[in-house]
Amino acid sequence: MSYPYQIKTKEQYDAAWKKSVDDPQGYWDSVASSFMWRKKCDSVLEWNFKDPDVQWFKGAKLNITENCLDRHLGTLGNKPALIWEPNDPEEHHRVITYRDLHHKVVQFANVLKNNGVKKGDRVCIYMGMVPELAIAILASARIGAIHSVIFGGFSAQSIADRLQDAQAEFVVTCDGAYRGNKEIPLKSVIDDALVQCRFVKKVIVLTRTRTPVSMIKGRDVWWEDEIKKVETMGNPDCPPVEMDAEDPLFILYTSGSTGKPKGVVHTCGGYMVYTTYSFVNVFQYTPGDIHFCTADIGWITGHSYIVYGPLGAGATSLVFEGVPTWPDAGRFWKIIDKYKVNILYTAPTAIRSLMGYGLGPVHGHDLSSLKVLGSVGEPINEEAWHWFDENIGKGKCPIVDTWWQTETGGILISNMAGVTPSKPSYATLPLPGVEPMLVDENGNEITGNNVSGNLCIRRPWPSIIRTTYGDHERCRTNYFATYPDLYFTGDGCFRDEEGNYRITGRVDDVLNVSGHRIGTAEVENAINMHAGVVESAVVGYPHDVKGQAIYAYIVYGNTHGDEDLTRQDIVQTVTRIIGAIAKPDKIQFVSGLPKTRSGKIMRRILRKIAEGELENIGDTSTLLDPGVVDEIKSRRV
Ligand code: WTA
Repeated sequence: MSYPYQIKTKEQYDAAWKKSVDDPQGYWDSVASSFMWRKKCDSVLEWNFKDPDVQWFKGAKLNITENCLDRHLGTLGNKPALIWEPNDPEEHHRVITYRDLHHKVVQFANVLKNNGVKKGDRVCIYMGMVPELAIAILASARIGAIHSVIFGGFSAQSIADRLQDAQAEFVVTCDGAYRGNKEIPLKSVIDDALVQCRFVKKVIVLTRTRTPVSMIKGRDVWWEDEIKKVETMGNPDCPPVEMDAEDPLFILYTSGSTGKPKGVVHTCGGYMVYTTYSFVNVFQYTPGDIHFCTADIGWITGHSYIVYGPLGAGATSLVFEGVPTWPDAGRFWKIIDKYKVNILYTAPTAIRSLMGYGLGPVHGHDLSSLKVLGSVGEPINEEAWHWFDENIGKGKCPIVDTWWQTETGGILISNMAGVTPSKPSYATLPLPGVEPMLVDENGNEITGNNVSGNLCIRRPWPSIIRTTYGDHERCRTNYFATYPDLYFTGDGCFRDEEGNYRITGRVDDVLNVSGHRIGTAEVENAINMHAGVVESAVVGYPHDVKGQAIYAYIVYGNTHGDEDLTRQDIVQTVTRIIGAIAKPDKIQFVSGLPKTRSGKIMRRILRKIAEGELENIGDTSTLLDPGVVDEIKSRRV
């Protein structure tokens, strides 16, 4: 497999970036010519950010699985597409070649068809990190169904909300999932969610943990039984359904500043081209390399850089079921040694957590196969960057600090390994096709260098969000209305004297806890469900390992009970409503929240107090009751 669009030198990068902004149509037309299309496009790009309406490769026909599977069969059929490392290191790993994967995807696509799934139907996938998760994704794409993967850590209520929003009639799940020493009863969580979702017609259940489950007659079927039925049909093919470039490929829910997650919609053509293009260029993938992205497939990083990007490039992608600290904190290093991993793509929170165990767990593992390291999900602090560089990369592996979002589909700002320079804690330069711009609060452009502002992008790249499912207006107001004619990222950013970009964190009410995006309003809604809670406000504060942690200020009705028990109850409520990832780390009971006369909560003050900055709280004179601030300060937890 060769990649004609691969950029190999800084000069080529400069030239590619320039060409991509001078002649985006020409640039992307040429990149797209390395992919397999049933019909070529009539026009490469048509767009406006006002509606917004963005169409890449209009008129083109394709199926992304044909690109990820069929086209590799001739040359890479016996090469591993996926390597699966199970949670338990004693259990056998699996190597799935391109030919095997193609076969399994075709089989499961037929299972979906037999169960009534048609083009355009939404298929919700709630599974652990098993190869069948990737298979279910690809099988949906093969028949033109729209997959909506839900991270295995979300609660029944979160699943129900997402199923309802997407009106998904089909669910694929497992009996359970292993994560470290835990066993998560996925099917039983689905059963709880489905009490509220009577419109779900079929649930296909894969056996993984043998956790006891109850199967509902007519609705629930076993993955394995359904595969057997397909096998008895002989050896049927499942020709890929021809999709328009702009047909939806998937929905992925993500948090914003409102209480309800948004269903980010990505489409087939642009997403395919950009994920593979960015995968090859950022990581400088060389055929034969083993790529290990430690994210969960339930997040965008897993969609783009475990499944679609690597498979589009004919790469070998390692899927790890477990967690970095089980059975011990040497697990990643052991995996790298075992499979001779060449590219390790992980999150700052994992690096910081492993740093905490010292070098003991690193020793004794041969990491010499590593060529490239990557970081994603949150700003990486310099200490973690250097630890990663020195102890894992042994000073010889470029680190790519990749900035992007669920909405961007692929990496937008990052150095390219060994091609463009890295700079600790900087995502550095935009990829070709990406034109970043910093603006002040009023939307005026901030030009020059050594400046900070809100990060916007001036024009569409192929994998930009197309809409929020079922509510286009929400997409417009969230991303395209804050600053007219610009895509607004929600991130703050600094540009240095050489034009390198450094992401400084969210400027909206979105938290980033261990690399997971969580809206404060969502957490507040969950807390407010607790019977005793009158009102609450949630802010983030810096945390050594998680990056940010959650601080909740709560006005509680009954002040006579045991505070610790109440705290536990509230944490339980949040876990039940959203999932364990949204649990508040600190809860402070207060008699009131600092509000302006118009009733707006002054989060700035709450943030300062949570951060421990008790002196420079700023002006409190506009508060309805300035006295409440002193009380909150004095009882800080
Ligand atoms: C943050 C994850 C600094 C950022 C791919 C963004 C980062 C949000 C980086 C998106 C990075 C992601 N440096 N911050 N390299 N990468 N972020 O949608 O705040 O889960 O807006 O996508 O993570 O999170 P999401």
